[in-house]
Amino acid sequence: MKFNLTATCSLGLEAVAARELKRLGMQDIRSENGRVNFTGNASDLCRANMWLRSADRVWWRIKTFSCRSFEDLFLGLKSIPWAQFLPVDSRFPVDAHSYNSALTSLPAIQRTAKKAVVEVMQNYYRRTVLSEEGQTHFPIKIFLVKDVCEVMADTSGSGLHRRGYRTLNAAAPLRETLAAALVQLSYWNKDRILVDPFCGSGTIAIEAAMIGLNMAPGLTRKFAAETWPFIEREAWQEALQEAEEGFDRRSRLQIYGFDKDPQVLKLARFHLRQSNLENRGIEFAQKDAVDFQSRSQYGVVITNPPYGQRLLEMEEAEGLYEILGRIYEGMPTWSYYIISSHPEFEDFFAHKAYRKRKVYNGMIACNYFQYPGPKPPNI
Ligand SMILES: C[S@@+](CC[C@H](N)C(=O)[O-])C[C@H]1O[C@@H](n2cnc3c(N)ncnc32)[C@H](O)[C@@H]1O
Repeated sequence: MKFNLTATCSLGLEAVAARELKRLGMQDIRSENGRVNFTGNASDLCRANMWLRSADRVWWRIKTFSCRSFEDLFLGLKSIPWAQFLPVDSRFPVDAHSYNSALTSLPAIQRTAKKAVVEVMQNYYRRTVLSEEGQTHFPIKIFLVKDVCEVMADTSGSGLHRRGYRTLNAAAPLRETLAAALVQLSYWNKDRILVDPFCGSGTIAIEAAMIGLNMAPGLTRKFAAETWPFIEREAWQEALQEAEEGFDRRSRLQIYGFDKDPQVLKLARFHLRQSNLENRGIEFAQKDAVDFQSRSQYGVVITNPPYGQRLLEMEEAEGLYEILGRIYEGMPTWSYYIISSHPEFEDFFAHKAYRKRKVYNGMIACNYFQYPGPKPPNI
């Protein structure tokens, strides 16, 4: 069976997600705002969930049709042979999103869509009541954009950022998907030193370690489509086996996370333990960024310093950018990659970025300021 699939991602990360899909060997890859469409078979659906680092979810696009009224919506959904893939007791919650369309009431869209699916199921199974208590979990999403309705099923279940290691939250943590994208947008590789001088709960360090050791982000989690009877069990088993075999269980890395706050460092160490990446050369230590120095050459700094949303904090953040700028001047063979929402970051850092990329940290519009240093001689 061939699936039309979509990996959704945060705005600005489409190219990273597309590159990941290309590396996975997916077909017909096409980027749009906040998403990358592609096609694949059941095995591709499983592998995309298992390996995508910067995407939020993988969706199966079941049907697309023009939709200007509730009748269009109802008939469009009724024409889908739901019983072909849903057992009688499936759970199929319906969620909706509408943008620039004639139909705007999300509860009414959800109700109409649900009614259509229920009718198809009731007719096929000859039941008046559907229990929705079975194993199959099939979250349906109605995406209405400019009167075009896409009916999608969420193959991932919970968002792909839920790798399983981060169960406690520090203040202002980065999403795992964004942290993984920041690492992939840098020239860091597993043979180079990586430092995050504002590591907080350790997301950048842990995501980099997973990338360096080729650890699949989905290795220890579950996906909604694992409960779908028409996705052969072997497809999941093969994806898991590929992930187990690909995981480099020997190499040691040189990844250091520093922060001045001992409490967040407890979280970082806890997350490292949860990710099963202890004793692999990832270390967290208490250090004020002012004191950061290194005798090594060609290291890479990837970091998410405070942005300073309020005035006092803003001044503090600006002071930290100046400190980072001085580190840069003192260690010019290093590479620096810094995410910040501050519009004058480059002025305080006192250097123009070689490249800037617009990314979103949740709802906050940020820039990813990139200062790649010279290439190490032996790489
Ligand atoms: C935006 S948070 C980083 C969040 C992190 N990326 C995560 O995913 O959890 C910024 C961090 O900078 C730390 N920080 C603030 N001033 C610092 C300083 N002078 N030196 C070191 N760390 C500092 C804070 O304690 C906080 O944990």
